[in-house]
Amino acid sequence: MSVDLRPSGPFRLGDRVQLTGPKGRLHTVTLREGGELHTHHGVLRHESIIGQPDGSVVANSGGHEYLALRPLLRDFVMSMPRGAAIVYPKDAAQILASADIFPGATVVEAGVGSGALSMWLLRAIGPAGRLVSFERREEFSEVAEANVETFFGHYPKSWQVVVGDLVEQLPQVTQAGTVDRVVLDMLAPWECIDAVAEALTPGGVVLCYIATATQLSRVAEYIRHSGLFTEPEATETMIRGWHVEGLAVRPDHRMVAHTGFLLTARRLAPGAMPPDVRKRALKKPSYADADVETWTPGAVGDREITDKNLRKRVRDAQRAAEGARQAAGDRSDETVD
Ligand SMILES: C[S@@+](CC[C@H](N)C(=O)[O-])C[C@H]1O[C@@H](n2cnc3c(N)ncnc32)[C@H](O)[C@@H]1O
Repeated sequence: MSVDLRPSGPFRLGDRVQLTGPKGRLHTVTLREGGELHTHHGVLRHESIIGQPDGSVVANSGGHEYLALRPLLRDFVMSMPRGAAIVYPKDAAQILASADIFPGATVVEAGVGSGALSMWLLRAIGPAGRLVSFERREEFSEVAEANVETFFGHYPKSWQVVVGDLVEQLPQVTQAGTVDRVVLDMLAPWECIDAVAEALTPGGVVLCYIATATQLSRVAEYIRHSGLFTEPEATETMIRGWHVEGLAVRPDHRMVAHTGFLLTARRLAPGAMPPDVRKRALKKPSYADADVETWTPGAVGDREITDKNLRKRVRDAQRAAEGARQAAGDRSDETVD
């Protein structure tokens, strides 16, 4: 089977299409033989989309028009089924730059959650890279795997999902000193820093994506006092959209104000300790573990999903992946390698 990595050209069977209909309402469909989109405005037959160029306008039985576009990755992650909270596209873009994710890199990620960040990482490392994603909760990994398969239309060969705790599993799955980059998106990243330091290659980058200032402070102090990394750097990314129409050129009234902070540091060579790292590592942290009682999702304002709801998300994601698998099968019948 040939894998089509270029999401372009006229629409074909099995493509996912984002339709913008009357009043800007969005619908996402996967093109099927005999498929139809039913709304109270009428029926839109998938046949009227197949063969049209990306970006076409198609009409339904009631004469209502829809703009048809293939979803970009940023559209897909915002509408896919979620188990856990996702990394938003603005942060994913910044993570790729700050963690210096490059084609062919060996990258470790935890937790995998809904798989949003995994998709950005997989695209950036390309087929020559390797991404190992760790996830404690099996249902979350199922949602993530189904989402990734739906988006790419196949299960990437460069991807390995490991169900279990990063601290226990990382030494089993990777050799010490061989991992180029590590991205941690979890409640308590400081618990993983020793294992990450062991896995990273000298000069490798660790990046933590954290939601609250208290978590940021704790992981920064942990990294600093380990004496194994360069001085950690923290950033926050805010993107403010602009309304640009005629003379009405101004910032949008609304924006996503806060998602998370990024913290990066680089692994020092074994035994190396530059003077600034030595000085800071020797200083006592300004608070002890006992100062912060328990790091529970509730304590940092995370809303936890119910088991019932999570099982439904798993089913939704797997149904979409099954559609993508069937579509890839249909295409391989049409394609000669
Ligand atoms: C916010 S979610 C990750 C979202 C993901 N980055 C995305 O973009 O979809 C955090 C996940 O980390 C997992 N997790 C927390 N600590 C972990 C650990 N030590 N090892 C593996 N997974 C962990 C949780 O189960 C949860 O699914």
